[in-house]
Amino acid sequence: MLDVRNLTRIFGTRAAVDHVSFAVDRPAFVGIIGRSGAGKSTLLRMMNRLTDASSGQILVDGQDVLALRGADRRQWQGNCAMIFQQFNLVPRMDVASNVLHGILSRRSTLATMFNLWPRADILKALEILDRLGIAEQAPKRAEALSGGQQQRVAIARALMQDPRIILADEPIASLDPMNAQVVMDTLKRINVEDGRMVIANLHTLDTARRYCDRVIGMRDGRVVFDGTPDQLSTGVARDIYGADASFNESATSTAIPTETAPDRAYADRMLS
Ligand SMILES: Nc1ncnc2c1ncn2[C@@H]1O[C@H](COP(=O)(O)OP(=O)(O)O)[C@@H](O)[C@H]1O
Ligand SMILES: [Mg+2]
Repeated sequence: MLDVRNLTRIFGTRAAVDHVSFAVDRPAFVGIIGRSGAGKSTLLRMMNRLTDASSGQILVDGQDVLALRGADRRQWQGNCAMIFQQFNLVPRMDVASNVLHGILSRRSTLATMFNLWPRADILKALEILDRLGIAEQAPKRAEALSGGQQQRVAIARALMQDPRIILADEPIASLDPMNAQVVMDTLKRINVEDGRMVIANLHTLDTARRYCDRVIGMRDGRVVFDGTPDQLSTGVARDIYGADASFNESATSTAIPTETAPDRAYADRMLS
């Protein structure tokens, strides 16, 4: 389904993403973890063509999406909707219109200017909001909602595109634990119920372990781990984040005991 091969992006003399390869053969929930600067965002941005790759391929059903131009490129971007840490909604616009903006690229400028949406699209937007449990927020300005609600609006906007893949760049990094859970549960539901692949950059190990079928660990632009959550041992986590003090900083809620050969059960408790 998705086959990333030797994907590389060079900024100046440094490779932000360095010969990254992985393949996903079903609509899995994939987590990408790693310290700040590891290349996670650059990887996602290349996937939906927001950033150009320096070399490599991203094959989707055998076709290299990096080679797509013009309308084909836009069609691909519609197929892999992106969700951001800061939600990227239009704050003063109502929630329903924000959701409808998910299909903005399909509409004429004039129709958009006057906020004229086909009835079927409006009904679809309301249906999606209802599914995500925020139907009653539809007429409110986006800025009036809590962070967790705003991220659900962003997910609704993504769903409006009916994407095959949802790319989420640290979707819960700005949320409190309760809202973070609601948003992750929502992404998981969409993954399981709709069969849409989710690829999420996550800043905490415990979230990756709890929600992902597959975890890819990045360090300095390279893949240093690719496996299931239960293969994500303390040693592996150290390898991804580094064993020094900056581990605690980048992994936020998680902490690694510093003794040599730490007891596995203890380490698991610390990591979960
Ligand atoms: N537009 C850019 N220009 C120059 N360097 C960049 C740019 N975007 C990212 N980088 C660099 O690429 C590396 C990876 O960044 P990023 O993909 O944002 O990592 P992450 O999302 O894991 O924190 C970092 O060293 C960052 O400074
Ligand atoms: Mg990032």
